[in-house]
Amino acid sequence: MFRSISSFALGVLILVVFLNSVHAATTGCGKTPTLKSGNQTTTINGKQRKWILRIPDNYNSTRPYRFIFGLHWLTGSMTSVDTGSTPYYGLKALAQNSAIFVAPDGLNNGWANSGGEDITFLDTIRQQIDNDLCVNEKLRFSLGFSYGGAMSFSLACSKAKDFRAIAVLSGATLSGCSGGNDPIAYYGQHGVKDSVLPIDLGRQIRDRFVKNNGCQAKTAPEPAKNSKQRITTVYDGCKYPTQYTAFDGDHLPLPDDAGNDAGANSFTPAEVWKFFQQFE
Ligand SMILES: *[C@@H]1O[C@H](CO)[C@@H](O)[C@H](O)[C@H]1NC(C)=O
Ligand SMILES: *[C@@H]1O[C@H](CO)[C@@H](O)[C@H](O)[C@H]1NC(C)=O
Repeated sequence: MFRSISSFALGVLILVVFLNSVHAATTGCGKTPTLKSGNQTTTINGKQRKWILRIPDNYNSTRPYRFIFGLHWLTGSMTSVDTGSTPYYGLKALAQNSAIFVAPDGLNNGWANSGGEDITFLDTIRQQIDNDLCVNEKLRFSLGFSYGGAMSFSLACSKAKDFRAIAVLSGATLSGCSGGNDPIAYYGQHGVKDSVLPIDLGRQIRDRFVKNNGCQAKTAPEPAKNSKQRITTVYDGCKYPTQYTAFDGDHLPLPDDAGNDAGANSFTPAEVWKFFQQFE
């Protein structure tokens, strides 16, 4: 009797695990993709919107991949995120073909998100990718610097259920926050000497997700100016991981501990990738 109950329970468990793993894969899994890496266009509210897609080398259509949006800063563009020495803020090199990357192009080189049009744009790309490529729908991410951080924040406000985590690099609330009450894993970093978007703006964004994630209140210490230090605070008791780094620097996406522009040697790519990679 006990044995049959426990084997029944085991059977149910296996079925649940199986259905769960099937459920996590998007409808593009198993299909031969029609999308190819490179420039794409999508019409949103009558406007032609541009984006760049990077499909991993040796793409395997039955493997559910991570999906990562890299959003550009003000005056930047999809090309600035996709090219240069640190594509996708350095994450593309670290991902080693384990993630599908997309760099969308904002209107007027920014993310004003008027009437929610940029949320619609990103959501349309997300659906297009889901339908054509094999994505693990529990492993979608967005990151960006400055205006791109603001847009990642806005995405977390509106679409937390579709994304696993966001990383906001020196962001602020510039792209709105519709909804804004759902939990989502949150990585934030901000310079104590930020002369463009003062650090208090970064604290405000962080505190929304500290609250939404139900974390215990905690003081997040920040390094003194010119201390050449950074301090990371990991919040406790959160529904989803929530962490914040304050560094001794100005308005920069890829700083070192002393606040210099360090490119691929910045702590940012390694820390963000570690944060995104903790989810399996
Ligand atoms: C992709 O779009 C960018 C920006 O519009 C342009 O500079 C580039 O030449 C395009 N690349 C290709 C291969 O068409
Ligand atoms: C494709 O991915 C599936 C699922 O992860 C794996 O079982 C299979 O071995 C992969 N095929 C190749 C050719 O790598």
